[in-house]
Amino acid sequence: MKYKIETWGCQMNEHDSEVIAGMLEDMGYQPTDDENVADVVILNTCCVREKAESKVFGRLGTLKRLKQNNPGVILGVCGCMMQQPEMAEKIRKRMPHMDLIFGTHNIHELPQLIKKAQESQTTQVEVWQREGEVIEDLPIRRFHGVKAFVNIMYGCNNFCTYCIVPYVRGRERSRQPEDIVAEIKDLVQHGYREVMLLGQNVNSYGKDLSQNIDFADLLQQVNEIEGLDRIRFMTSHPRDFTDKLIDILASCERVCEHYHLPVQAGSTRILKKMNRGYSKEEYLRLVEKIRDKVPQASITTDIIVGFPGETEADFNETIDVVQRVRFDGAYTFIYSPRPGTPAAKMEEQVPEEVKKERFQKLLELVNSITEEINHRLVGRTLPVLFEGTSKYDENIIAGRTRTNKIVHVPGTKDLIGKIYPVRITEAQMFSLSGEILKENQDLF
Ligand code: SAH
Ligand code: SF4
Ligand code: F3S
Repeated sequence: MKYKIETWGCQMNEHDSEVIAGMLEDMGYQPTDDENVADVVILNTCCVREKAESKVFGRLGTLKRLKQNNPGVILGVCGCMMQQPEMAEKIRKRMPHMDLIFGTHNIHELPQLIKKAQESQTTQVEVWQREGEVIEDLPIRRFHGVKAFVNIMYGCNNFCTYCIVPYVRGRERSRQPEDIVAEIKDLVQHGYREVMLLGQNVNSYGKDLSQNIDFADLLQQVNEIEGLDRIRFMTSHPRDFTDKLIDILASCERVCEHYHLPVQAGSTRILKKMNRGYSKEEYLRLVEKIRDKVPQASITTDIIVGFPGETEADFNETIDVVQRVRFDGAYTFIYSPRPGTPAAKMEEQVPEEVKKERFQKLLELVNSITEEINHRLVGRTLPVLFEGTSKYDENIIAGRTRTNKIVHVPGTKDLIGKIYPVRITEAQMFSLSGEILKENQDLF
């Protein structure tokens, strides 16, 4: 018996898919890339922007052919998009070839849902509208062998006015620190060298726990784990980035010097309408404080253009922030109205052509800065943790610097999982090329 999972969206979804895979493997299914031979096909969906949703609808339509060829196949759809009540209903009505529809809050029910679908031959729709307790000890089949995703919390309480995530992922729930530390110790024993601590807003970790612990304390605990080489985290909110956290980041040697710090917009007026909880000046000051304590810090960001009411002057504030901070990288998005969010109802929606024009201008700027920063690394020697072969060439091995830059070197698969010093020889927009300095390998 074989399964295939397709994942849209962020690392949260990616990690949920690892849990889904774990449950399926416990039931006796094996992974396959070929949907034509799969007995179970699951689509894990995202709804953060409209484009993501329309792609899912297209894909669901194409699954019909699989069902026609093999009526016994189980077709499932889950993820954030299903947590919107009208969406699950729409799919149930329009896509009768789907066997399972379930949400992000009840992934753990998958084995029972599959059994029910097999017995009854009717679509099983089970979407919990409210989040339950954090469930520990679900099986996980991790997709990477070197770095592991570790959830530290679920949900989001921030309600940025453009964002649908708090509606589909529920309120913040932190895992117990003991559970997190035990999971990471186990990962280290299984050969993992890096962990990525995941949460929609990792620095509000612990606020809902009875014990007195915050994200900085948790990082310190994880930093003590022997045998672990690298710690990353995603995503941190500028509003909750405390001085204490900056000090801890600077003092924990296993925590990588890369911080993803979404700014979203440069204009304080727009930031206020977005409910982000900081001004342009506060954001700039935060970056300064971080760079003061961690001079080699790589800072990346997310930016939205065309939020309702954004004027040319507001947009120029965004450009100004980008020029001042000089982000190592930025994900740029065109604002997409999401049903049920306050911003979708705001007047003064920005016309599509204006959004596109601004987006293009911003993209060119952020990319040129990323490239310039990368070019400055040519000639430097940096420790690289190798993760896997390049997508395009088996003889090229890809890894990352602590600052999260992708580095390609010619080599063989035995490099995977090792950290070597690499001399950077070339820089492209989204990656670097280099050569391993073997004579120094004992250093790492
Ligand atoms: N919790 C994370 C990520 C949330 S989703 C955070 O707070 O940063 C990832 C990114 O998608 C956001 O940072 C934002 O830039 C973008 N995004 C969210 N909603 C959007 C919308 N309605 N339109 C366009 N981009 C959006
Ligand atoms: Fe969305 Fe804001 Fe929460 Fe991030 S912090 S998930 S952008 S509401
Ligand atoms: Fe998308 Fe859900 Fe992540 S909406 S961005 S997959 S939390």
